[in-house]
Amino acid sequence: MSNKILVLGSTGKTGKRVYKRLQQLNEEVIPASRNSDIPFDWYDQSTWAKALSGINKVYITFQPDLAIPQSLDIITAFVAATKNAGVKKSVLLSGRGELEAKACEDVIIASGLDYTIIRAAFFMQNYSEGYWLDGILSGELIVPKVNAKEPFVDADDIAEMVVKSLLEDEHNGKIYELTGPELLSFTDTAAKISEGIGKPVNVIEVELDEYATMLRSYNVTEDYIWLITYLFGQLLDGRNESVHGSIPMVLGRNATSFDEYVSKTNLTGIWSNNT
Ligand SMILES: NC(=O)c1ccc[n+]([C@@H]2O[C@H](COP(=O)([O-])OP(=O)(O)OC[C@H]3O[C@@H](n4cnc5c(N)ncnc54)[C@H](OP(=O)(O)O)[C@@H]3O)[C@@H](O)[C@H]2O)c1
Repeated sequence: MSNKILVLGSTGKTGKRVYKRLQQLNEEVIPASRNSDIPFDWYDQSTWAKALSGINKVYITFQPDLAIPQSLDIITAFVAATKNAGVKKSVLLSGRGELEAKACEDVIIASGLDYTIIRAAFFMQNYSEGYWLDGILSGELIVPKVNAKEPFVDADDIAEMVVKSLLEDEHNGKIYELTGPELLSFTDTAAKISEGIGKPVNVIEVELDEYATMLRSYNVTEDYIWLITYLFGQLLDGRNESVHGSIPMVLGRNATSFDEYVSKTNLTGIWSNNT
């Protein structure tokens, strides 16, 4: 039987790491996104069949987030497409504490296919490859809820968990909550990065509606503003203020700490622009 693995979002924060690790393990792995050789677009179902052809397992990263109202219908249609294509297993990247994401997880669980659900905390890499990189580079991080605590998780740890889940049957039927080893606020994380890079990163707190106005002034789309304000508004209310042991349990080592993330990211030079 084919053991071809499809990695969706293969240039994204977790997808690119999962793709690289599977390649290093000499697995037959197909990268997919809107710009890959075989294009895949969540919002164009006519692209799905070709991407799923001959695939045995799939790593699902939805865009922009399972929290959006359309996600349930799209994931339901996608699961049907995977079954039609003869896929045997899916690993879903989900978010912690999101009701809408939970509904999508339930579709995967009810699919009859093998599955593993990976519920991740906020990624540490949002500071180096995502929303908050500009704030680090400019030395001014403007966010709501600066003192809310979140157990930021390293995307390398997520990728290692995803690869094990894809390759090892013992993870079938499991739901893993992935967090880093400590609860940290935006103020704490900015202080750690500031110390690591040797320049100030000032954290400025704004109310959610001011934040939306600021994003609008940068021509961010309304859909994206809705998503960001939803995530800040809903997920930083205390519901996710806990650390989980899935990474140590499955990987047999501690989850990467924020200090370790800062040290290794500093070596890449990504934070040295504009300094
Ligand atoms: N960031 C966090 O803190 C966090 C925490 C928990 C869960 N998550 C989940 O992680 C996922 C986002 O992953 P990420 O942050 O790694 O994303 P990302 O780094 O922004 O990468 C996006 C990836 O998806 C592809 N993509 C974008 N739009 C697409 C579309 N319409 N159809 C198909 N592919 C598309 C992009 O490639 P192309 O441009 O070539 O299409 C790229 O490969 C979401 O499902 C989110 O819920 C994120």
